[in-house]
Amino acid sequence: MQLPFSFPSPLRTERLVLRFMTVSDIDDVHAYQSREDVCRYMTYEPRDRPTVAEKVTQYADAHVLAGDGDYWQIAATLDGRVIGDVYFTIKSVEQQTAEIGWSLHPDFQGRGYMSEAAGAMLALAFDQVGLRRIIAVLDPRNDGSTALCRRLGLREEAHFVEDEWFKGEWADTGIYAILAREWASRG
Ligand SMILES: CC(C)(COP(=O)(O)OP(=O)(O)OC[C@H]1O[C@@H](n2cnc3c(N)ncnc32)[C@H](O)[C@@H]1OP(=O)(O)O)[C@@H](O)C(=O)NCCC(=O)NCCS
Repeated sequence: MQLPFSFPSPLRTERLVLRFMTVSDIDDVHAYQSREDVCRYMTYEPRDRPTVAEKVTQYADAHVLAGDGDYWQIAATLDGRVIGDVYFTIKSVEQQTAEIGWSLHPDFQGRGYMSEAAGAMLALAFDQVGLRRIIAVLDPRNDGSTALCRRLGLREEAHFVEDEWFKGEWADTGIYAILAREWASRG
């Protein structure tokens, strides 16, 4: 693997620019992280502006992946506005495994923007960082997220039943995954 690895910000995709966040993005990020619908299956509750400001300040400093737990929270921007973000973290250097996550402002869902952003992140992770396996951990009721996994070529590998107390109820956990060789042989 090519570690340490700094995200090549800005990274252009067909319609988007993926780049590091800055404190000037706080309002854009607050616009979606404050929403009940966006947070329904996220680990956090809707965030107020001071909380988003604190988080974005942390995200803005997360540039380099070097070891377990290091992460990127990369802004997906359209015409200069942050419409969502892609989370990417090293789970294990030894196992060459990372985890990906995502969120998109509902006004921009349904147009393939996250397929485009997350697809670019997988390409970078496999082709340049040299990772071997990437997983997504989600609530199986999260149809938008499971559909996105399948679109990207991630397979459902596990479905844990009521393994987690989540937002006031016992909830299931789904694990999706894709290997470098599966990414390379995608049609
Ligand atoms: C998960 C999430 C990012 C998926 O967003 P999304 O917009 O559905 O995903 P995509 O950007 O890949 O867009 C796919 C949709 O755009 C459509 N589309 C249009 N043009 C497209 C294109 N060029 N490429 C791919 N899809 C396209 C697809 O048909 C699909 O529509 P459908 O949902 O009606 O079938 C979004 O639901 C979200 O932010 N949820 C809240 C946060 C969350 O739960 N995150 C995950 C926690 S595990």
